[in-house]
Amino acid sequence: MRLLASLALALLLLLPSLPALAASPEGVLLVAFGTSVDSALPSLQAVERAYKQAYPGRPVVWAYTSDIIRKKLAREQGLRVLSVKEALDECSRQGVVDLRVQSLHVTGGEEFSMLERMLVRSLTLNPGRFEHVWLGHPLLESSRDLEEVRAALFGHLAKRRQPGEAVVLMGHGNDRGPGDLTLAYAAHYFNAGDGLVYLASVEGANAFDKVLPQLREKGVTKVLLQPFMLVAGDHANNDLAGGEDESWASRLKAQGFETEAELTGLGLVEGVPQVYLRHTRETGDDLAHPKKSD
Ligand code: CO
Repeated sequence: MRLLASLALALLLLLPSLPALAASPEGVLLVAFGTSVDSALPSLQAVERAYKQAYPGRPVVWAYTSDIIRKKLAREQGLRVLSVKEALDECSRQGVVDLRVQSLHVTGGEEFSMLERMLVRSLTLNPGRFEHVWLGHPLLESSRDLEEVRAALFGHLAKRRQPGEAVVLMGHGNDRGPGDLTLAYAAHYFNAGDGLVYLASVEGANAFDKVLPQLREKGVTKVLLQPFMLVAGDHANNDLAGGEDESWASRLKAQGFETEAELTGLGLVEGVPQVYLRHTRETGDDLAHPKKSD
């Protein structure tokens, strides 16, 4: 007993000289575009649950990048969601020194570039506030990501779909940035895995118009609609499944297809939060100590 106690004491005294053992308070900042649709929240909550499990006892703070959505929530629901700048202040206030920021965007498009710029700007204005600021990149960045997301998504769809039914996924898309290229490749990759699964986007270059004739060619009669976004928010409820003439559901019905909408965000697709978590754990991108190229 005495030996153990003195050993513990020796270890305790040794600790200050062993910086590797003196772990800095770690915290997580989850950054999403944001949503003002209540029914979209379970997807964000599922992601949060996964992070709270993976980082027990650590602060898990949220930020929305969309000013419009944050203002709308404040105005209409009296709800305060933090901006990235405010969330960084909050993490610092909670004593976080080793910060893990995770982008919950689907591709490294416009919104992700904006997040990177905001983080760099804040680090420049507040040098030394955090020891590390690790940036976890969006859902789809590597071939492994695509493989894991496809497996998760196909598993999710298998439970909801009858043989012979087609699936149309709605991604977001951007006119700017490389996000559309990622979505175009994802569309190709999903369709190569299952010739009846199509991905198009509500904005940007991967238009739904290109999918319609392919569905007709395949002789499909029923189409399952599912958002390929973190949340099933405004786009999913209106542009995908809404009753207006321009929605994808209406356009499909007008062409004689039967449709069914599965309005769940990607956070509720089993396996997807784990891809984000892997990015959070494995990122080597420390914005507080950027690697120099030789
Ligand atoms: Co949008």
